[in-house]
Amino acid sequence: MAQYDGFAEQYRDMVRKGGPEASFRYIMTQLTRLDDMRGKTICDVGCGQGELSRRLAFAGARVTGVDLSADQLAIASSDIAGVRWVQDDAMSLGSLPDESFDYVVSSVMLMDVPDHRQVFRASHRIMKPNGMMIWVIMHPCFQSPYSHPLGDGSRKVLDYREQFWKSHGTGTIRSTLGAHHRSLSAYINDFLNAGFSLIRTDELERLDQSVDVLPAHFAAIGRKVESFGK
Ligand SMILES: C[S@@+](CC[C@H](N)C(=O)[O-])C[C@H]1O[C@@H](n2cnc3c(N)ncnc32)[C@H](O)[C@@H]1O
Repeated sequence: MAQYDGFAEQYRDMVRKGGPEASFRYIMTQLTRLDDMRGKTICDVGCGQGELSRRLAFAGARVTGVDLSADQLAIASSDIAGVRWVQDDAMSLGSLPDESFDYVVSSVMLMDVPDHRQVFRASHRIMKPNGMMIWVIMHPCFQSPYSHPLGDGSRKVLDYREQFWKSHGTGTIRSTLGAHHRSLSAYINDFLNAGFSLIRTDELERLDQSVDVLPAHFAAIGRKVESFGK
């Protein structure tokens, strides 16, 4: 059973409340600035309930939404022209052929996988030469395991070490499934080591500034180059 099975209803509420909205908007804005999406092949890795995939398809792209969770895909897979839903592991993407996508996008999912480097490598493999990847994660500097909002728009961060963590409480996605906390440099260096050149990075403001005024997400865009390992 995949991690998010059993949590799809809770995740749907988070999407409806705008949790990943900043990530969706960032990816859409960057892609449509870079290119005309019509006819482009895009893989949405860890697509969840498919909101980003749907927006990309609406812009004219041919989208493959990949997720490990049958429950998430069951919500995603309402029929929509231009999106193919695939149940697969983002750390291998074994059902997808080499060099078949113009773009790979990944919205707030890398913290969920035990090895983000495998996701970078698998994404690199399925991308056409010169293809681009955009990934967005919860900002590891501020959304860290021991980061406490102080109520005045700031936070106190007590620990930044890499670790698997679970939030306090019970029954929520993060208190049950946990997440992998990694440093910003680990993400960036591992992206470069997987065979990408860095085009730009951005820190995305929280859309709802009720908790704090710090960036909630970190985003990176890279172009596929030959992997160091080849
Ligand atoms: C926080 S949700 C993000 C979903 C979506 N990208 C969004 O922005 O709303 C993380 C998603 O990653 C998926 N996921 C976690 N591990 C995965 C893996 N190894 N392979 C594929 N999907 C995975 C989960 O099932 C979940 O749907």
